[in-house]
Amino acid sequence: MSAIINNIEIIKAKSTKINDVDFDDLKFGSVFSDHMLVCNYENGKWQAPKVTPYEPITLDPSAKIFHYGQSIFEGMKAYKDENENVWLFRPLDNFKRLNISAKRLAIPELPENYFMEGLKTLLEVDSDWIPKNEGSSLYIRPFIFASGNGFHASPADAYKFIICTAPSGAYFSGKVKVLIEEKYSRSANGGVGFAKAGGNYAGQFYPTQLAIEKGYQQVIWTDDNTHEYIEEAGAMNIFVRINDTLITGPTSDRILDGITRKSIIQLAEAENIPVEVRKISVKEVVEAAKNGSLKEMFGAGTAAVISPISGFGFKDEDFDIPELEETYASFLKKRITDIQTNKTEDPFGWRY
Ligand code: COI
Repeated sequence: MSAIINNIEIIKAKSTKINDVDFDDLKFGSVFSDHMLVCNYENGKWQAPKVTPYEPITLDPSAKIFHYGQSIFEGMKAYKDENENVWLFRPLDNFKRLNISAKRLAIPELPENYFMEGLKTLLEVDSDWIPKNEGSSLYIRPFIFASGNGFHASPADAYKFIICTAPSGAYFSGKVKVLIEEKYSRSANGGVGFAKAGGNYAGQFYPTQLAIEKGYQQVIWTDDNTHEYIEEAGAMNIFVRINDTLITGPTSDRILDGITRKSIIQLAEAENIPVEVRKISVKEVVEAAKNGSLKEMFGAGTAAVISPISGFGFKDEDFDIPELEETYASFLKKRITDIQTNKTEDPFGWRY
């Protein structure tokens, strides 16, 4: 059965899977709603997007995604308020960043209306899948990959832009301990660290597995040149609080320009929390942990929201970060999620 909404063709799923989902016990990104948006790049242009049932896709074994990893993605969330209104958070920033990543990976840039209208239509069709429970949301994964064929190591001539969604709970379960990395690197100057390229994440898995074996959940990446400065944690940007000052590293070729990161900086400034965007050395963090001035460390990202870090490891030494009663992390998390879920005014104009 096919219909048109917002000028977009909808091919509805024959049945819904929603009754199999326990919305009170949602994991992160493990069940998927009934539909997806699909838009193909063929014959030198992006073709009209369609909403189709969520289903496997068929690719030629020589599709360039399998060989040369031409793939990028975004992470977003949709929230439903008590009046059943649906909200997105800064979606145009995700759209712009997708095209920044596309350019770096030699993927043709996507038109804004295909992204925005496609996303709105998909959410209209699957609005029953947007959770209302506190701490849950509909995680949205827009991505583009090279579907064109051939072993020649050059950009593909065909791509797929897909958006699929997953009702999700928290990304991390339990406390998060991180290992400050001193051998492996996530990215380098002139590389693709600033892009949301699939390969950036694949390259982290092995060092992260080693960290997990030692009892940590995530790696904190340091700069590839000296390993002296903290960069990001791969699934999230990193903030540290030394005494009363909140500090995060500047974005660069190597660090993702996180939308949650920049929102937190703005929110903290608006709340008169002293914020510094500057290089943070590992030495400074270790010394602050030793002399008690390291009050907090947390990760920030769409999936992670704000995830407090309870301790870190560095060179075979473990440092605990004692829990404060009142933290910037919980204050800022409440501020940002209240804005995202329409529980408070949005003086920044972020809610959409
Ligand atoms: C997000 O926070 O949305 C991301 O894309 C990070 C991913 C590792 C879950």
